[in-house]
Amino acid sequence: MIILAPSLLGADFKHLEQDIKAVEQAGAMYLHLDVMDGAFVPSISFGMPVIKALRSCTDMVFDVHMMVEEPARYVDVVRECGADLICVHAEACKHLDSTVRQIRQSGAKAGVALNPATSLAAVEMVLPLVDMVLVMSVNPGFGGQKFIPYTVEKVRSLRRKLDEMGLAADIQVDGGVTLANVEELLKAGANVIVAGTSVFQGDAGENVGRFLEIFDRYESGLR
Ligand code: DX5
Ligand code: ZN
Repeated sequence: MIILAPSLLGADFKHLEQDIKAVEQAGAMYLHLDVMDGAFVPSISFGMPVIKALRSCTDMVFDVHMMVEEPARYVDVVRECGADLICVHAEACKHLDSTVRQIRQSGAKAGVALNPATSLAAVEMVLPLVDMVLVMSVNPGFGGQKFIPYTVEKVRSLRRKLDEMGLAADIQVDGGVTLANVEELLKAGANVIVAGTSVFQGDAGENVGRFLEIFDRYESGLR
């Protein structure tokens, strides 16, 4: 199943509820929430109170991308605020194995993210424990950046490795994804697509519809 995860960072912060409803009604299943601490990444975005407030606006799956040093400190509270899936960066965790286990213990699904320059080896040992691997296709910290092409090959290698290991984890791609490059990512093996600018710039509902059309076309080609 291919899932679209609009990134709230691309929405208009003056009317988040309206923007969330637009993407939900258009059929997006995940809402990607980027938490930034100003230390792991240069910028600061939003945190727990915002996630908690938005929880009552929507039934979408809350996919929380923690761009935070030592995210283990926040796993339980982020879960309590309504996260369904918590994704931590391998580079930000001294004890990645225990952080992943803590996420699972909280009842959330567990994801591990890798910066563009981080090798797949950084996540290999915990692959049997994770629901999702996030392959960053820009350097994290800001929306609206240009897609880094070498990350497509990384997605392909990761899908191959998961297949070899008999694992069916999701592969998420985040950063610079557009209607023009998304199909290449699906072909490489990604199945959870984050899109901020390319969803929220212009009519968000229509943009979601365009992504979902591409997903449908791709999936019916496989049948
Ligand atoms: C970047 C964030 C992304 C960002 C994507 O660090 O993790 O989720 O919102 O935005 P676009 O799709 O505009 O690159
Ligand atoms: Zn993100």
